[in-house]
Amino acid sequence: MQGKLASSLRGRDFLSLRDYSPEEIYYLLDLAAELKKKLKAGEPHPLLAGKTLGMIFTKRSTRTRVSFEVGMYQLGGYPLFLSADDLQLGRGETIADTARVLSRYLDGIMIRTYSHQEVEELAAHATIPVINGLTDFLHPTQVLADLLTIREKKGKLKGLNLTYIGDGNNVAHSLMYGGARVGLNVTIACPPGYEPLPQVVEEARRLASENGSTITITDNPMEAAEGADILYTDVWTSMGQEAEAEKRRQAFRGFRIDGQLLALARPDAIVLHCLPAHRGEEITDEVMDGPQSAVFDQAENRLHAHKAILAALL
Ligand code: CP
Ligand code: NVA
Repeated sequence: MQGKLASSLRGRDFLSLRDYSPEEIYYLLDLAAELKKKLKAGEPHPLLAGKTLGMIFTKRSTRTRVSFEVGMYQLGGYPLFLSADDLQLGRGETIADTARVLSRYLDGIMIRTYSHQEVEELAAHATIPVINGLTDFLHPTQVLADLLTIREKKGKLKGLNLTYIGDGNNVAHSLMYGGARVGLNVTIACPPGYEPLPQVVEEARRLASENGSTITITDNPMEAAEGADILYTDVWTSMGQEAEAEKRRQAFRGFRIDGQLLALARPDAIVLHCLPAHRGEEITDEVMDGPQSAVFDQAENRLHAHKAILAALL
């Protein structure tokens, strides 16, 4: 089975967790755990010696950029940071031509940008794996690291209750797909008008039903927090939405993880945040720096999860 899974992953794109079977997700999680162990033991693991990864960014990044770059280095490969401003892409070269050309030099492309359709177009014309490092629609590499963190802290995934408080955004969408795939019960609590896209809710519900888990959308954060094993939040204003920041600050009041909300969750609940956090908005200092917070372990796990994606796909 292991060999079959390994060959089913080689050469694939990583655009959405919707496209990955539960077995493939567990394979990546096991590989991430193994690579993490090797790194901690100081054991070299040059699985990508001689391979190169191009990393295109049209949005800012701290975690994604640094962890992919360092991860590629630790795997014996070479990462190239490609700012969209410096590529001919920024002067009108088409995405399709960029994909065709980069495929002649590189072994993989990681891209962070606004439009998910553009990432799909890049993948359609590239002959090498394309990894989605965040679009306005999805953030799948984040959620693979989140699943790794939850499994480390809780010992399992299936049947746990994950409650996300905040905007029905890219992170919420990927949590719904990823959660549905591994059997988490995912509840999204968001203000009216900021729900996840109906098409994602529908698809995630269909995937969840295959695993006997549930996807719930509510506008009541208190009810949603009750019985949660994991409380998760993200910024109220994502990259590209800066003009709406004030309006959103009003709309999301009450959709924050503070001590009061955390007290409604299970006593052993953990708190996750993809980061960067706007402390005092969607999460308080008290919670973020408190004993139930796992946010920095979660951030570390981006490195291990991304290495698993790279080692499996490239
Ligand atoms: N969580 C996350 O993707 O962080 P960066 O924006 O810093 O990459
Ligand atoms: N939803 C946030 C996530 C940042 C990692 C954004 O898109 O800005």
